[in-house]
Amino acid sequence: MKKILVIYYTQSGQIKDIINSVLKDAKTDKNVQIDYYKIEPEEDYPFPWRPSSKFYDVFPESVKSIDCKLKALIVNNSYEYDLVILGLQVWYLSPSIPISSFLKSDEAKNILKGKPVITVYGTRNMWVSANKTVKNLIKNTGGHIIGNIVFSDKHHNLISVITIVRWLINRKKEASKYFPEAGVSTNDIVSASKFGNPILYSLTNKNFDNLQNELLKLNAVQIDYHIMKTELTGIRIFHIWASIILKNSQPNSKKRKRLLKLFSYYLFFVIYAVSPVASLIFRSKKLIFPKKAKKETEKLTSL
Ligand SMILES: Cc1cc2nc3c(=O)[nH]c(=O)nc-3n(C[C@H](O)[C@H](O)[C@H](O)COP(=O)(O)O)c2cc1C
Repeated sequence: MKKILVIYYTQSGQIKDIINSVLKDAKTDKNVQIDYYKIEPEEDYPFPWRPSSKFYDVFPESVKSIDCKLKALIVNNSYEYDLVILGLQVWYLSPSIPISSFLKSDEAKNILKGKPVITVYGTRNMWVSANKTVKNLIKNTGGHIIGNIVFSDKHHNLISVITIVRWLINRKKEASKYFPEAGVSTNDIVSASKFGNPILYSLTNKNFDNLQNELLKLNAVQIDYHIMKTELTGIRIFHIWASIILKNSQPNSKKRKRLLKLFSYYLFFVIYAVSPVASLIFRSKKLIFPKKAKKETEKLTSL
């Protein structure tokens, strides 16, 4: 009997649907046991994010990985698990606060130490810098990342911003007359079952050495060079904003609200005025230096 432990946080249920699809075949395999544990903040974040100011209020703490209090996550006999799957999402180019809080906890160290871990992301389209943080956090627990699968919204960046806001603030994920479905598409969620085979094979053979290569052959990680470069520039500026807000205002204060409002205008301006230009520059860079761009992208698909 092989045992898989799934640990996840989700607001909409999207990442759980994705993992259920990845483990579709494993679920019907009599030799595999799967246990799910949800990370739960003591005071959960609102979904939908109303009033919308709450959506911006988590910005500084997300970027600076400042913990929230979590309910105890008690996994009995965690040493018995052969594989851990971590289902996560990105908030402001960083791991979501519940995920980073969990990864820094003693419970995470107890559960993940010495264990093979597969990270499964459900994001809009900017996850690369969050993944750098997650890799370090998992390394600090003593866990070993042996696989990474990323699900994102494949629509144009500017379209996916509109649809994700509609989803996160108005709870409308489905397509409308003018806009496509928000987040990871239903098709991609259903076809996530294709990743189950290589995972089951590695699990049964107790050898995860080649798993990521097999997952990559199935397009487990797809990186758009111009999105990745825009994001990596963005996270540096996010750190400056987050430091300014944290240094100059108290939680719930009027000053913090004013600073966050200013940040929300900045974000809107960057997304719609700066990012198209940046995207054009990075696309040209890729055309002029294709080898360099390929190398940079490949580096980020490795574990
Ligand atoms: C506050 C907040 C910030 C987000 N920032 C990003 C981001 O920087 N990059 C990204 O790809 N997705 C971002 N998302 C989308 C999430 O990664 C995720 O896809 C979505 O919230 C659904 O996750 P769920 O499983 O918790 O429902 C953000 C979502 C929230 C709520």
